[in-house]
Amino acid sequence: MSALATACGIDFGTSNSTAGWIRPGQSALLPLEDGKLTLPSVVFFHAEDAHVTYGRAALADYLAGHEGRLMRSLKSLLGTSMIDDHTEVSGRALPFRELLAQFVGELKRRAECAAAREFTSAVLGRPVFFVDDDAQADQRAERTLADIARKAGLRDIAFQYEPIAAAFDYESHVSREELVLVVDIGGGTSDFTLIRVGPERRRRADRREDILASGGVHIGGTDFDKYLSMASVMPTLGLGSRLQNGLEVPSSHYFNLATWHTINLAYTKKSWAQISEIQRGALEKDKFERLQNLVRERAGHWLAMQVEAAKIALSDAPATIMDLSRIAPGETLTLHRPDFDGAISDLVDKVERTVITLLRDAGVKPDDVDTVFFTGGSSGVPLLRERISSLLAQSRSVEGDLFGSIGTGLALDALRKFA
Ligand SMILES: Nc1ncnc2c1ncn2[C@@H]1O[C@H](COP(=O)(O)OP(=O)(O)OP(=O)(O)O)[C@@H](O)[C@H]1O
Ligand SMILES: [Mg+2]
Repeated sequence: MSALATACGIDFGTSNSTAGWIRPGQSALLPLEDGKLTLPSVVFFHAEDAHVTYGRAALADYLAGHEGRLMRSLKSLLGTSMIDDHTEVSGRALPFRELLAQFVGELKRRAECAAAREFTSAVLGRPVFFVDDDAQADQRAERTLADIARKAGLRDIAFQYEPIAAAFDYESHVSREELVLVVDIGGGTSDFTLIRVGPERRRRADRREDILASGGVHIGGTDFDKYLSMASVMPTLGLGSRLQNGLEVPSSHYFNLATWHTINLAYTKKSWAQISEIQRGALEKDKFERLQNLVRERAGHWLAMQVEAAKIALSDAPATIMDLSRIAPGETLTLHRPDFDGAISDLVDKVERTVITLLRDAGVKPDDVDTVFFTGGSSGVPLLRERISSLLAQSRSVEGDLFGSIGTGLALDALRKFA
């Protein structure tokens, strides 16, 4: 790379964020936390003195038992009605928009610190759809993200689809022309683009002709966590069990606790009163004791982290043991790969259908695709990988930098767009 870019690329991810900047002779991604190239999209508000930590430090502070509030999966709020709402932090109402602005501002500051310069222009990544099947809500989500980025000091902003950015990263390594299907399965969304790449094409300013189709669906790793939790873990806390009056216990608290961006809703006084009421009427009291321990200890994120770790372990192993000690001393739960595959099978069907539709709408036969380029942490899920690979059995599979391809590609795009 010979040029020095004036703008950076920012990949604000549901689970992890990166920032990239093109400089001669150096790789694009900027170190954001202790030399690491990703900043987990996590914020922790300390109750005692109202200071705020980010990324791995935020997770560590929460796990160390500091009083405060942990927020993860912030990007999932974009495109929902919750974005206009607020959460309570240290006794004051914090609008979710401000929370997102605080994180994006920190991401920019860290990128600037690593680059030793200020950035006022950036290409921001966005999923192909922030919101499925609602173009207006989708546009609102993009506008909200643009407002947030401006608040953080970025004056000139362009957006790029995350899978197209990943394609630019892949393209920087190819030596011949190829038709590529980019498969980016992240924490919040699954995004695809069908694009012609090549050494000659990458010099073109306008790539519209090369992009045959883009598509996506609002399904990602955080949904896999939720479905695994609801199928295997929440039942041990009473989900699906009966009350003395014969009715099934209400499921809303379990949904909140299994969904990263709504965990804190289970900690309100109203929730506690409802859970205590359910416990009084429950048949299997021990299960509700676990639920009460979870809420009392504010261990919702801890449990979700155990579920996520189990999910990741099941990408490589047929079974894994989950630790439940914080809510049930001495207890564990064994999860098997088929449990996970069964829990996510409807989601995987939807992702697969999105790919089939994309190819069909583009008028491209699977055999015409030279390469499938996988990126995003959730592309490590074996069932997904198998299903997509078997749809495109004749294509070569290439694995990108699962957590860095988007940020690198956005940096390449920033060089082109703000040269
Ligand atoms: N080996 C693995 N197997 C399965 N899932 C994994 C693995 N490693 C990470 N993940 C999951 O990948 C997700 C994070 O991936 P990534 O960082 O690409 O997402 P993101 O860019 O933050 O999200 P998005 O692009 O959807 O906004 C998390 O849900 C995480 O649990
Ligand atoms: Mg991503």
